[in-house]
Amino acid sequence: MSASETAHPLRDPAAKVRENAHAPYSNFKVGAAIRAKSGTVYVGCNVENVAYPEGTCAEAGAIAAMVAAGEKELIEAYVIADCPSPVPPCGGCRQKLKEFGATDVAVTLATTDGVEFKTTIGDLLPGAFDAGHMERS
Ligand code: THU
Repeated sequence: MSASETAHPLRDPAAKVRENAHAPYSNFKVGAAIRAKSGTVYVGCNVENVAYPEGTCAEAGAIAAMVAAGEKELIEAYVIADCPSPVPPCGGCRQKLKEFGATDVAVTLATTDGVEFKTTIGDLLPGAFDAGHMERS
């Protein structure tokens, strides 16, 4: 990055929390940072478990921190991992992001090398299941 370019504001918190990931089984550390409507940034990292299905993703951790702090709306998200191309959130995390963010919310996927791919919650999960699908007219 040149001196005139500025890093995405969520990159640093996401990269920092990634270092705290507990990923002894996959050796794949992920960091996530989300900005809530208030402006506060919440972070999360993946936390694996020897009983593999009990592990949780970075996005889930950041969302849990936001909800625990009393907030229910995210307006921006950033996910980072050390991988060949920007890390795509798993299917479950796409649904979790959708629960708390509008379809046009920007989600930046990144590599630790500095490659970024900007998408939205809507593009990550087209045709998402939502509360409207449980309504009957
Ligand atoms: N993982 C995340 O935390 N977020 C993603 O977006 C993709 C995958 C984690 C889950 C698991 O701990 C490890 O990466 C390998 O799947």
